[in-house]
Amino acid sequence: MLNLIIFGAPGSGKGTQSDLIVEKYKLTHLSTGDLLRKEIAEKSDLGQIADSFISKGELVPDEMIIDILSKHIENQDKGSNGVILDGFPRTVAQAEALEILLNKFNKDVSVLIDLRVEENELVDRLMLRGQTSGRSDDNLETIQKRLKVYHKKTEPVNDFYRNRNKYTDIDGTGTITEIFERISAIIDTLK
Ligand code: AP5
Ligand code: MG
Repeated sequence: MLNLIIFGAPGSGKGTQSDLIVEKYKLTHLSTGDLLRKEIAEKSDLGQIADSFISKGELVPDEMIIDILSKHIENQDKGSNGVILDGFPRTVAQAEALEILLNKFNKDVSVLIDLRVEENELVDRLMLRGQTSGRSDDNLETIQKRLKVYHKKTEPVNDFYRNRNKYTDIDGTGTITEIFERISAIIDTLK
């Protein structure tokens, strides 16, 4: 079983690369951002709470997100070879909760792959996407806030996995295919 974490700043390509990884390695894609946006579209109570954080570029509270993730990880697609976590864990508290959750099933994180992209390219990518995405957080002010929150609360997650020898970073720039080849090379060493 593969339990991969695809990690990186907003706009680093987590979602784009996850789609390719899922197809090649037959994994279940769990994107907490996508799960929250679905709740928002359905106008659920949870969605309304989530929207108030997302549109400001803030993180949704840990308890709420851990609860959602736990439910989905336990119900992953039958026949899949594991999971790819996209946008989770995003705080050290979430990383700790994930470790406990996986240990319950005698599982562990296989590797965290950190997509490294310069800040100005991140902003350019997200501003471009904002022209068509309809995402309430794809505007300059909120993008800058998301990047700030990333450095403060999310980057420390790297050390959590470095200490467990699970951390790998790659150059997240170039063509989508080039980046996918770098990721595949890492995954292929795990099999
Ligand atoms: P989330 O949905 O996870 O968003 P994010 O981390 O801000 O990242 P994005 O989805 O914007 O970017 P991405 O890395 O997936 O890049 P993509 O492939 O789309 O989270 C949104 C919000 O939800 C958070 O701010 C928070 O409020 C909440 N949330 C979610 N998870 C949470 C958690 N665990 N805890 C608490 N709160 C949580 O690519 C970006 C763009 O670049 C696309 O247009 C793409 O086409 C383009 N692109 C991709 N690759 C390339 C390339 N190689 N060259 C040029 N362009 C490229
Ligand atoms: Mg994404």
